[in-house]
Amino acid sequence: MRKQIVAGNWKMNTTPAEGTELAKAVAELSKEVADNVSLIVAPPFTHLCSVAKTLAGTKVALSSQNCADQASGAYTGEVSARMIASLGASYVILGHSERREYYGETSEILNKKMAQAYANDLTPIYCVGEKLNERETGKHFDVVRAQIEEVVYQLAPEQFDRLIIAYEPVWAIGTGKTATADQAQEMHAYIRSVLAEKFGDKAAACPILYGGSCKPSNAKELFAKTDVDGGLIGGASLVAADFIAIAKSF
Ligand code: PGA
Repeated sequence: MRKQIVAGNWKMNTTPAEGTELAKAVAELSKEVADNVSLIVAPPFTHLCSVAKTLAGTKVALSSQNCADQASGAYTGEVSARMIASLGASYVILGHSERREYYGETSEILNKKMAQAYANDLTPIYCVGEKLNERETGKHFDVVRAQIEEVVYQLAPEQFDRLIIAYEPVWAIGTGKTATADQAQEMHAYIRSVLAEKFGDKAAACPILYGGSCKPSNAKELFAKTDVDGGLIGGASLVAADFIAIAKSF
């Protein structure tokens, strides 16, 4: 049985004080969520310290939204995986389409970031997904396969054991447009088959989350699909009640 996971990606939203309040509300409501569902929140770097304190002793785990591709040194403005881990985070989102698109993150950079994550015991939540024109021209499977082959295939088997994948069709992120449950299942099953080509039976244990306008009203249908193991939630994770309603949708 695979882990069921709901992770909240706060992106560049909330002040530290607002983030602490949001984390407090999520932690309180998390008592209503089934024990077999893991909850993760990913606030901005500036909130990690205070949110870690708020979440201590609760069932909600902490993630960052990114990490540096280097260990330490003269890299102005960067935040290392070691710093993130030392604050009590256990996860890091890597390869989000916004990072790929706006900050030029390539597979080469992401391989370095993955190495930093593993070296510091952070579990990566590695994002893949196609753009609208890629889906419309029937290239979506090839695009996602390349994102997996170029990065995930470079992992050692024991690293792969600690990986979470998020499928986020770019055309569904923040647009209110969701992939249908059948479209999500089709891609999730494909991703699992691509993982199995390299990692064999281990692929059956890898959690694959859906992301892209997932909300309380559509989470149940998405999570009911065999290969959809939860969600990576953007907009709806900024409202504690909505985030928890999604986590109660399995
Ligand atoms: P969204 O974002 O839920 O606001 O579409 C998802 C994500 O980018 O992680």
